Amino acid sequence: MLGLKLATDPRWVNIVETNIEEILTDHAWCEQKAATNAITIITLNSEHEDLVTDLLALAKEELEHFEMVHEIIKKRGYKLGRERKDSYVNELYKFMNKGGNRVQSMVDRLLFSAMIEARSCERFKLLSQKIKDPELSKFYHELMISEAGHYTTFIGFARKYGQDVDVDKRWKELIDFEAEVIQSYGKSETIHG
Ligand SMILES: [Fe+2]
Ligand SMILES: [Fe+2]
Repeated sequence: MLGLKLATDPRWVNIVETNIEEILTDHAWCEQKAATNAITIITLNSEHEDLVTDLLALAKEELEHFEMVHEIIKKRGYKLGRERKDSYVNELYKFMNKGGNRVQSMVDRLLFSAMIEARSCERFKLLSQKIKDPELSKFYHELMISEAGHYTTFIGFARKYGQDVDVDKRWKELIDFEAEVIQSYGKSETIHG
């Protein structure tokens, strides 16, 4: 799906179902991080008017997702736990070339963002198909569609503004890197765990 090399083991959903409160807390913070990341990209690349426009809309959608998850948490009498670390994302972050020029840095951050959207989308799809809870199944189906759109936005801007960078080559390298990283995951009740 979306170019990913490895599919998540469907048994991950069984792990998730053992602790819905935990997956919702982790998920809420994923949405917060997605909103924060979009604002960081805007901050670093403010000269591109269309990028600023589209990423402002994207950041708002991520905040709406955060709010939607929080509403489900409240409705069910759960508590939003403290912010969770996302070690999958932290490992992916290491791929980014921090010493390059501004264009290279922008391309890497856009591709990093697209990759997280792609994997989140894959996880949401699996949840929507396998989770027994009908409300969550419908919810994750809706989010899957939204995150697939975000993936397209990030990839699109990487291609548009990455003129001097071989974006397709870099994306392929990231796909290979992600396939290595993800092998250690799929074992806990977190969105990327
Ligand atoms: Fe989202
Ligand atoms: Fe997203």
